[in-house]
Amino acid sequence: MKKRNLLIFPLLLCVVILFNSFKHKDLNKNTNTNSHPNNEIENRVDSVLSLMHLNEKIGQLVQYSGKWNATGPSSTNGDQYKLEKLKKGEVGSMLNISSVASIRETQKIVMEHSRLKIPLVFAYDVIHGYKTIFPIPLGESASWDLDIIKKSAMIAAKETAASGIQWTFAPMIDVSRDARWGRIMEGAGEDTYLNSVIGVARIKGFQGDDLALPHTIAACAKHFAGYGLGESGKDYNTVNIGEHELHNVVLPPFKAATDAGVATVMNAFNEIDGIPATANKMLQRDILKGDWNWNGLVVSDWGSIGEMKAHGFAKDKKHAAELALNAGSDMDMESYAYEAHLADLLQEHKITIEQLDDAVKRVLRLKFQLGLFDDPYKYCDVDREKNEVYTKENLEVSRDVAKKSIVLLKNETKLLPLSKTIKSIAVIGPLADSKDTPLGNWRAKGTYNSAVSLLEGVKNSLDKNTKVYYEKGVDLTIPTVKPGDNQFLHPLEFNTTDVSGISVAVEVAKKSEVVLLAIGENAYQTGEGRSQTNIGFLGKQQELLEAVYNVNKNVVIVLMNGRPMDLSWSADNIPSILECWFLGSESGNAISDVLFGDYNPSGKLPVSFPRHVGQEPLYYNQKNTGRPYNRSHVTYSGYRDSPKSALYPFGFGLSYTTFEYNNLKLDQTTITKTGELNASVDVTNSGQIDGEEVIQLYIRDLVGSITRPVKELKGFKKIMIKAGETQTITFKINAETLQFYTANKIWEVEPGAFNIWIGGSSIADLKTKFEVTE
Ligand code: BGC
Repeated sequence: MKKRNLLIFPLLLCVVILFNSFKHKDLNKNTNTNSHPNNEIENRVDSVLSLMHLNEKIGQLVQYSGKWNATGPSSTNGDQYKLEKLKKGEVGSMLNISSVASIRETQKIVMEHSRLKIPLVFAYDVIHGYKTIFPIPLGESASWDLDIIKKSAMIAAKETAASGIQWTFAPMIDVSRDARWGRIMEGAGEDTYLNSVIGVARIKGFQGDDLALPHTIAACAKHFAGYGLGESGKDYNTVNIGEHELHNVVLPPFKAATDAGVATVMNAFNEIDGIPATANKMLQRDILKGDWNWNGLVVSDWGSIGEMKAHGFAKDKKHAAELALNAGSDMDMESYAYEAHLADLLQEHKITIEQLDDAVKRVLRLKFQLGLFDDPYKYCDVDREKNEVYTKENLEVSRDVAKKSIVLLKNETKLLPLSKTIKSIAVIGPLADSKDTPLGNWRAKGTYNSAVSLLEGVKNSLDKNTKVYYEKGVDLTIPTVKPGDNQFLHPLEFNTTDVSGISVAVEVAKKSEVVLLAIGENAYQTGEGRSQTNIGFLGKQQELLEAVYNVNKNVVIVLMNGRPMDLSWSADNIPSILECWFLGSESGNAISDVLFGDYNPSGKLPVSFPRHVGQEPLYYNQKNTGRPYNRSHVTYSGYRDSPKSALYPFGFGLSYTTFEYNNLKLDQTTITKTGELNASVDVTNSGQIDGEEVIQLYIRDLVGSITRPVKELKGFKKIMIKAGETQTITFKINAETLQFYTANKIWEVEPGAFNIWIGGSSIADLKTKFEVTE
């Protein structure tokens, strides 16, 4: 959550200057947008650019926050300063202003005072919903359901646009492999392919087919690049990856995003191989704007231009501005470096007017694509804001997404699903009646304490014949973040020592048929700056868990969390574990849908869950090494005190039914580099009830000019299979599936042998092979 204090500017007493300069109405009709060149828009961009003075050009590259101290070190420049800059037309964009009234008021300053009346574009971090909150991105990714993911982004866009905002800083498509990193909650997890397809689904949901439509907003693929791979899971930390890791693991989701027409890209706080991403010319100029020929806007991350001084890369802010602009970073978010130094840098020939103009054009292009030049108040409709935000329909979709995001990790004794005629049930735990934690961290305008709690959801599902007991048992944090707190200034404390509630919890556990134990993490344990070395149950939760389990073995852990956790003890002891992430506004109802069998769980993990934090970073698609694991000998790559495999692997998730995989067949066993083969498998629902299964395709390129991972996800299909039914699923395998960035520094298919697996997780063992020839 980023608490948004509205920017209230002093009342304007100035004479209203009629807005007319840039109503290029005729030119903005039905422009097909997104970031592909469009001649009409290009002509209009050029015409505006030709009228601009240097200060106005530089101004378009400046983005201010509408509140202070939002996501980084406090801004030194106050409201009055920003107001003057807005009046002079020296600001291109604002972030963190929300509501139609505030946006109209801010836009009016520019439209009534500035010489050229170039409208502002307003941005906000809409990460998993605007006011109707959806599951955190990592949770939503567990649905492996691209349609529903797209739909959730569409609704988020609709609510955002109805509130006056045109640009979200999402999706985060950083491949993240370390459970210690707090921001792992914000993306699609550890796999490159999954990040690519989910990123594209989100972008299409936000942007639709045309940015000029009133319900669509510009998306932002972030953070370019490598931010998810910071050493030791510390946020903002150094990234040291080689060229091939960069091209094969980190960049493909961004390439997919630009191919899908993402309007903007955000660079990153981290350095990569010694060069901060913000000043990384190879990434931004050579690859993104060069090789990929992408004509969208690159925005810096918050203060990341200024931070290059601390990195030891820039002498001072002026030097930082020079490095960033030269490297292709177009808009300065809250560093105040461009506005202070670009004019001098130009005069000193440290930057060129061509570079500056190109950056300005990217900003103007976005504004034309959004239709802001036609009507700067186009997103400022109070009726829409009243009628289209937090509606019943939107909440229904949120419940649907939420139930599809739940992953059943263990159900050994078939304790789940529970019968609705159960006589008694205990709902226990610090998160059992939490109406806030299910909203997650980046909850935009989600209202404090507005989620349906687990307890409420359970009560909604049961009639009066079931006795429902509730006990918190222990607290998770002291203090919890309260409304109005700036969560960045109030670190949570987990040294809760009070165990006095455990005995009462034990008493209700004793007299109940089943215990639902809601434990995990507080919403603010994950998110920006929330790295942790301990990924187990903090506070006294483990004590509570063991005390309850001692008196009642029928325990279901209802896990709420934003990162993979160490569940080793629970996996050994507790019969049922349901991974419920932070599911958003309808959390409790969605969880109850699964608990009581109204929905058969279908989620699969987008990240590996370790046996111990010491395994992190842990990911399924590792390299084999020269000494792959072998228990009978010491000198192999592994751990002496633990298996090296995941406790719950990538792609894993159970159902209330069972699926069997048979007859993995290829229609050819040899193809050329440009050839194509079909791989098919029979999937049978061998249980008693209908269920959805995510059928996953993995390959291994056995010998490469660059060593290849032991397995790579290359496709998946989520389908409903009726009880007793068998379906044959086919995947096409061609150059797109098999190519990688090789030692030749190009994407190509290398001839040789490939293994192929199809199954229900990354440890699928149904395997065959084929050969690729020249
Ligand atoms: C984050 C970005 C975010 C920006 C604006 C930064 O701290 O890294 O992802 O979009 O703040 O809120």
